[in-house]
Amino acid sequence: MFIKKKNNIDLNNIPQHIAIIMDGNGRWAKKRGLSRSVGHREGSKTLKKIVEACYELGVKYLTVYAFSTENWSRPKEEVDELMKLLLEYLRNAEQELKGKNVRIRVIGEKTGLTDEIISEIERVENNTSHIEGLDFIIALNYGGRQEIVRAVTDLVEDVKAGRETVIDENTIRQRLYTRDIPDPDLLIRTSGEIRLSNFLIWQSSYSELYFCDVLWPDFTKNHLLEAIRSYQGRQRRFGGVIC
Ligand code: IPE
Ligand code: IPE
Ligand code: MG
Repeated sequence: MFIKKKNNIDLNNIPQHIAIIMDGNGRWAKKRGLSRSVGHREGSKTLKKIVEACYELGVKYLTVYAFSTENWSRPKEEVDELMKLLLEYLRNAEQELKGKNVRIRVIGEKTGLTDEIISEIERVENNTSHIEGLDFIIALNYGGRQEIVRAVTDLVEDVKAGRETVIDENTIRQRLYTRDIPDPDLLIRTSGEIRLSNFLIWQSSYSELYFCDVLWPDFTKNHLLEAIRSYQGRQRRFGGVIC
């Protein structure tokens, strides 16, 4: 079979769903004697470039970890700054991505977010819901454990009310935020930390994990290609055997 390659990447084997833990903004700023919020701002510029790169590569789903349920424990000024940046990002996203087929969705708990952010999320989701191309999913106020607790609670209520009779993987999955999104094929974490920090813990059971030392503001399209190359060199077995 003819393998279509660019930058040593097999274009016929691009991961359908890439998930990214964008980590290292604070350390990037600290190294330069700057405030953490400058790091977050730079990180937001990186995100724009990576969304475009994924779109160009034909990735179908990109999920990024923008704010975890545990990130509320940071100093108030930093949380406020992050929320401000996220609001700005959502406000400008459509304009920035104009001409590209990108649908924007947000997953996570709405409780705790300001009305301003909630209405911005609704606006951008509604305005882009018809778009078929790249599904860009922002995990905001997201926690994997909370997501599972919420799904199980909904399921128990449905069983009690007689709306559901079966408790299995499928009926739990149907109640996750990601119910209509395939599991990530490739999960990338930047900054050298080797942990999931409560990100997509149900969905990443069989994801290929890729950790790199680059701090998120320094992450480029080439680093993304390197991660995809690594993914393409792996053998996914899902518990089976390959003869
Ligand atoms: C990731 O960068 C951004 C968020 C968690 C919102 P960090 O802020 O965690 O940066 P480090 O890990 O402290 O360097
Ligand atoms: C994970 O990074 C959360 C996001 C990238 C949004 P953290 O920096 O919060 O994770 P820990 O504290 O190092 O585990
Ligand atoms: Mg961090």
